[in-house]
Amino acid sequence: MRKILVAGNWKMHGSKAMVRELLEGLLAGSAADGKADLVVFPSFPYLSLAESILSGSHIRFGGQNLNPHSQGAHTGETSGSMLKDMGCHYVLTGHSERRSIYGESDHDVALRFEAALQAKLHPVLCVGETLEEREQGLTEAVVGRQLDAVINHLGKDALRKAVIAYEPVWAIGTGVTASPQQAQDVHAFIRDKLRSLDDIIAGHLRILYGGSVKGSNAAELFAQSDIDGGLVGGASLTAEDFLAIYSAVS
Ligand code: PGA
Repeated sequence: MRKILVAGNWKMHGSKAMVRELLEGLLAGSAADGKADLVVFPSFPYLSLAESILSGSHIRFGGQNLNPHSQGAHTGETSGSMLKDMGCHYVLTGHSERRSIYGESDHDVALRFEAALQAKLHPVLCVGETLEEREQGLTEAVVGRQLDAVINHLGKDALRKAVIAYEPVWAIGTGVTASPQQAQDVHAFIRDKLRSLDDIIAGHLRILYGGSVKGSNAAELFAQSDIDGGLVGGASLTAEDFLAIYSAVS
């Protein structure tokens, strides 16, 4: 049985005051024995604040990205071991904004995924097609290629500690959500692909849906058999909106 995971990607949003208020709200409105696990991804400058507020609690946190190298002359970059040192349990890899705005290739993402595992972090591997790719019938080819980049580089066992987030690019930040059936179809494709490699890994792996998840659509999405939670952007920026999604888990 896979426990639902509700994760908040705060992107480049926030301030000390907002992070404090949001985390205190989430702590007050969620429980260690709740139906879902909660994880938040603040910007790097707020990890220390997240650590001080969340340490010892049931809410985990992580970095939004990491450099593939473990240390060295990489001005402006952050390593997996630094994230681990700050108390992170998770790190996002290959978010579509990293791929499209900052030019991260499938191979770059695989190297970052590898660095996350070396730092003993759980990588959240984000995959998803653009609208153009969907319209051309390329969704499975694109998502399959993004998964293969990691599997071919590291082997299937690398997925044991991972989470996958299927985020159709056309649904991110647009208010347009994939229908539960559209999302379920791609999640089933991902799980079947993994099942052909390893039944046990495929059965345990959590596959999150991301792209305009909100309180009003979360229950229907999470009710799909292969959707194990959500990676939430806009609706994770206030405790009220994020807790509405958390509460939708039944
Ligand atoms: P959204 O973002 O919920 O604002 O669409 C999701 C994401 O980018 O992870």
